[in-house]
Amino acid sequence: MQHKSIESIVNENFVYAKVLDFFGVEFYQSRNKTLEQVCAEYNITVDQLKSVMENKKSNQAIDFLALKNYPIRVVIEYLKHSHQVFIKDSLPFLLKVVNNLDTMTSSELQEDLKLVMPMFVEDFIHHIYEEEDKLFAYVLELDHFVNTKNYASNPLTKYGSFSIQEFALHHHDSDDEMAGIRGITNSYNTQEITHVQLKVLFKELNSFDQRLKDHARIENDILFPRALELEKRTKLLFQSKVNQN
Ligand SMILES: [Fe+2]
Ligand SMILES: [Fe+2]
Repeated sequence: MQHKSIESIVNENFVYAKVLDFFGVEFYQSRNKTLEQVCAEYNITVDQLKSVMENKKSNQAIDFLALKNYPIRVVIEYLKHSHQVFIKDSLPFLLKVVNNLDTMTSSELQEDLKLVMPMFVEDFIHHIYEEEDKLFAYVLELDHFVNTKNYASNPLTKYGSFSIQEFALHHHDSDDEMAGIRGITNSYNTQEITHVQLKVLFKELNSFDQRLKDHARIENDILFPRALELEKRTKLLFQSKVNQN
């Protein structure tokens, strides 16, 4: 492996592009160097690369069934953690690769990607903040209320017109935005792509799309039903409190 070029290593397994990036190596700048040369230049060892690689694999495992049985605040913590990974890790790398696409043959595709990607990222970050600031905050308060029955503060009135049901109904929006990227890239099809940067980009986009789907599935199938249930219970508790008085 040491004597292989960066380009051939990345070609064999695209995840190495990101692992190298983690160590400050821009794979497209060093594509013709051997791994041995790059390791010497950046003062890293092959073992270190491998351990980050292993780490990436285990981080990606999402146990949907296990999450189903966790308390809702743990599910929310998990979702928030994924948001951080998207914002701090996945999206910056994708943008970096898009912005460094230079020697491509199809410039139309390059221009389209440079136009669409930042728009997608902006909308996606907006979506994440809306979830964290409104939905998650509201659900955590509902959960807290149901557990403590402290009637001093009412989450139902505190979040005014915010509606879980409305939010859930429009939740497919970010997948629709990703559909534009799927269209431009012919569903991330790399069969006829020889350019290593573009290949890495398509593979990374595909993997990001998949992780986004898994993430949305947790929100749709675990978070929303339980949030609606908590809202219903809160309403009933306040109702019976009013009837008692
Ligand atoms: Fe989310
Ligand atoms: Fe979402």
